[in-house]
Amino acid sequence: MKAICSKKELYLCSYYNCISDIIDNEQLEQLKQITHHICTTRFQHCLNVSYYSYLLCRKLGLNARSAARAGLLHDLFFYDRKEYNSTRSKGQPHHSSMHSAQALENAEKITFITNLEKDMIEKHMWPCTTALPKYRESYIITLVDKYCAVLEFCVPKVNRVISSKSSAQ
Ligand SMILES: [Fe+2]
Ligand SMILES: [Fe+2]
Repeated sequence: MKAICSKKELYLCSYYNCISDIIDNEQLEQLKQITHHICTTRFQHCLNVSYYSYLLCRKLGLNARSAARAGLLHDLFFYDRKEYNSTRSKGQPHHSSMHSAQALENAEKITFITNLEKDMIEKHMWPCTTALPKYRESYIITLVDKYCAVLEFCVPKVNRVISSKSSAQ
């Protein structure tokens, strides 16, 4: 179990203690079957956001445990984004706020969620959603979520170019 662009085996890191009680949950397991950001799975994306939010919060002296937990649960939803957007009627929330609300609802079914974690999950799409994050950790997850999305999209493409160049040599 590794985060994107990291060689660390996460089972062996102190990070793992923060999420060990939820990582094998059946709902999270289901995210391994769902494609996310074109090139990865929703589970891997959640793991990436969880690990890098944890590292950044630890470095800044913030609540790294909550960052790891909220990161892992921040996209715990199961509907199809394209289908939702194409059938969304006037007055229905946009996908940005809809999936965050669903992720929080699903997360609360599998573990206790603190107010900080709640804010992190609910507001992770800011500024696409209007409500301002309340905590510094919530701003961290908004940044890390976007950073990971870029990595997830670009890294496989860069790796493909590198491997095709090296096999041509
Ligand atoms: Fe999201
Ligand atoms: Fe995300």
